[in-house]
Amino acid sequence: MATVTTQIMLDEQVQSFLRTSRKMLISGRWLDAVSGKTFPTYNPATGDMLVQVAEGDHADVNQAVAAARKAFENGPWRKLTASERGRLIWKLADLIESHAEEFAQLESLDNGKPVGVARAADVPLAIDLFRYMAGWATKIEGNTIPISVPYTPGAQYLAYTLREPVGVVAQIIPWNFPLLMAAWKLGPALAAGCTVVLKPAEQTPLSALRLGELICEAGFPDGVVNIVPGFGETAGAALAAHPDVDKVAFTGSTEVGKLILGAATGNLKKVSLELGGKSPNIVCKDADIEASIPGVSSAIFFNHGQCCCAGSRLFIEKGIFDQVVEGVAADAKKIKVGPGMDPTTQMGPLVSDEQQRRVLSYLESGYSQGAKAVVGGRKLGDKGYFVEPTVLVDTTNDMKVMQEEIFGPVVCAMPFTDIEDVLPAANNSIYGLAAAVWTRDIGKAHRIARELRAGTVWINCYNILDAALPFGGYKQSGWGREMGHDALELYTEVKAVTVRL
Ligand code: NAI
Ligand code: MG
Repeated sequence: MATVTTQIMLDEQVQSFLRTSRKMLISGRWLDAVSGKTFPTYNPATGDMLVQVAEGDHADVNQAVAAARKAFENGPWRKLTASERGRLIWKLADLIESHAEEFAQLESLDNGKPVGVARAADVPLAIDLFRYMAGWATKIEGNTIPISVPYTPGAQYLAYTLREPVGVVAQIIPWNFPLLMAAWKLGPALAAGCTVVLKPAEQTPLSALRLGELICEAGFPDGVVNIVPGFGETAGAALAAHPDVDKVAFTGSTEVGKLILGAATGNLKKVSLELGGKSPNIVCKDADIEASIPGVSSAIFFNHGQCCCAGSRLFIEKGIFDQVVEGVAADAKKIKVGPGMDPTTQMGPLVSDEQQRRVLSYLESGYSQGAKAVVGGRKLGDKGYFVEPTVLVDTTNDMKVMQEEIFGPVVCAMPFTDIEDVLPAANNSIYGLAAAVWTRDIGKAHRIARELRAGTVWINCYNILDAALPFGGYKQSGWGREMGHDALELYTEVKAVTVRL
């Protein structure tokens, strides 16, 4: 890691945003926590505090849910046409676009990711998601259904369905793509006509709070979007258990996903979950090896491995194992690790000291079970939460590093003999979020795509995400699909209406 770094000049609006402690958004007003408490958010490249943020807990959650309920039942939101709702969402996208640099910098400062990555990926993807969902507002339709009703002979009916907003929605999001996760959640909920209480992750509340300012500026009625920063065990748990929340949408760890599910039983609120992964990435001998090596590297090293769909289990066909491992190791060595605000940085720090400790403890466990690092494998520097990009070999399926989500820049490479033996190994996981295969044999590629138990399968590419593509998990990777038109199902109820003619 370079010790001397050039950092970009902070945008003026970012400077002023960080000058005073940030409040929470309830019913269109910026408020301190009822308790008066605040918590610090840190720059993971240095460990220094960025700013204090209002710390919401159950009292604030109660106010935010009441505001969302009022906005849902009585406010002007309900009376807006679908077209007006769509235009508001589109306007929000435009506003984000005109503040794109500010968002990229806030994201880099708060999360640690390279500002160039935030500019190229996080911010434009968020804008695109809002625009895609803006278009859906006017296209959420029911059906007309021919019914026969044998016990009322001779009677005639008109039957149709209405697709209506599910109501007050709680959305709890993680820290790996703070703005983008807010977009994935808010976009479809607003298109459907729901009202929302959003809780950003305690590690990265800033971009969601800035987004809240733009939501007000765009002209969304008060209480349609409320944003309560705070910790999971307090604010998050209060939202998941709240009796007046109709639906909770969560992205984060599988462990907390199960807690959300438990908390939701009180009023049987609807639940959607986007959880962990341990995605297999399969490289066949007949692949374009030169193209697959950088693909495999970015599958794990993008966003420092802090992706739920990271390609963390790398299966390589015998005969090309050494070549691919050496190629990925060479890529890992070349990655320039440093502070996210240095424009030449390719990989920043992990999000927190906790995440750094977690990743390092996985590495220790791997070594103790016989895994070897061919590159990386240690923490980097003594300031900030850096971990070296790492390739592990001599890993076996029963090791913790092969079964559990590491959520860091660590890939486990395994050789395989043929497709018949790699498919069960690839599917041997409690997770099923994503998977990929690299081959030039088109028939084989589609056969493997069918056999993989995962919500996303990439062929000769990785991490290709789009607002129009459904994303979500099989098995313990979650419930439901975000993005695409499938996302609207998470935020709507179907009502069957029958008229006797
Ligand atoms: P987490 O699951 O604890 O946190 C995610 C969100 O849930 C945050 O907003 C947090 O405040 C909230 N939360 C935590 N406990 C809660 C509770 N009891 N009730 C309601 N909300 C709660 O994830 P964490 O601790 O930040 O990371 C732990 C591991 O989770 C990572 O190492 C990674 O394996 C996985 N993870 C997966 C993500 C994904 O995209 N699927 C994102 C973040 C983490
Ligand atoms: Mg946690």
